[in-house]
Amino acid sequence: METAESQRNIDLAAEVLANASTVAVLTGAGVSAESGVPTFRASDGLWEGHRIEDVASPEGFGRNPGLVWQFYNARRANVAKVKPNPAHTFLAQLEDLFPKAFTLVTQNVDGLHQLAGSRNVLELHGSLRRTRCTVCEEVRDQFLDPLAEMPTCVLCEGLLRPDIVWFGEILPQEIWLDAVEATISCEVFLVVGTSAVVHPAAGLIELAQTAGAKVVEANLTPTVASDVADIGLYGPSGQLLPQVMKRFRELKGMA
Ligand code: APR
Repeated sequence: METAESQRNIDLAAEVLANASTVAVLTGAGVSAESGVPTFRASDGLWEGHRIEDVASPEGFGRNPGLVWQFYNARRANVAKVKPNPAHTFLAQLEDLFPKAFTLVTQNVDGLHQLAGSRNVLELHGSLRRTRCTVCEEVRDQFLDPLAEMPTCVLCEGLLRPDIVWFGEILPQEIWLDAVEATISCEVFLVVGTSAVVHPAAGLIELAQTAGAKVVEANLTPTVASDVADIGLYGPSGQLLPQVMKRFRELKGMA
């Protein structure tokens, strides 16, 4: 049962969306939590005793590529088993309602947005599905097929790495510039399931507000970005966002 305040915020979120003509969204690990993909900072930021920064950085890979591949092979195997949840579906439906005026910027590397039907997705941090050769740089879509413990390039036999943006690395510039453009030109900026602590991605939230967008945050709990948000929806996004869609449809007189 929703409290009166959370119901009011659901209604407000639906209203700002119903009055908007352009929407941009930033998602983080929390949007996939209800699918069974663990978030990064929920359980003390550790993976089997290793700091996430150590298994997700070029230095960590240089020190122990086998350990880093163990981490990514485990993540790939987990993602192969899971399905999009109602929050992913909501975002795919929202895109259908804003044709050509909807951009989904994600920090996630799990591909669940695309699986749910989202099309205009900007993956800021790369994808678990792809590898990149550390020698010849070839990028290859490996889907979620199991990889060797230390996979090597079919072209040059160099060691492969996940095609993921690690701590200390720069974002793919074209994708980042597209994300900035979508952020400064949208009327509503929806932030779902991110702790908003990793930059530059988190900086998009304040950028959206400065550029005049209404910022709507959906998260299990308030975050460091909550002060910037005009509307806060606090609870599991897979439960809250479908209620926003229901109200949006009522406002638009849709069946
Ligand atoms: N619904 C909504 N939000 C949720 C849910 C849920 N069911 N479950 C968890 N959350 C929220 C948490 O409250 C938290 O704010 O999701 C957020 C997850 O935060 P992080 O684990 O820090 O993930 P994210 O913000 O995506 O991390 C950013 O850091 O490790 C790097 O590159 C990695 O892309 C990642 C980046």
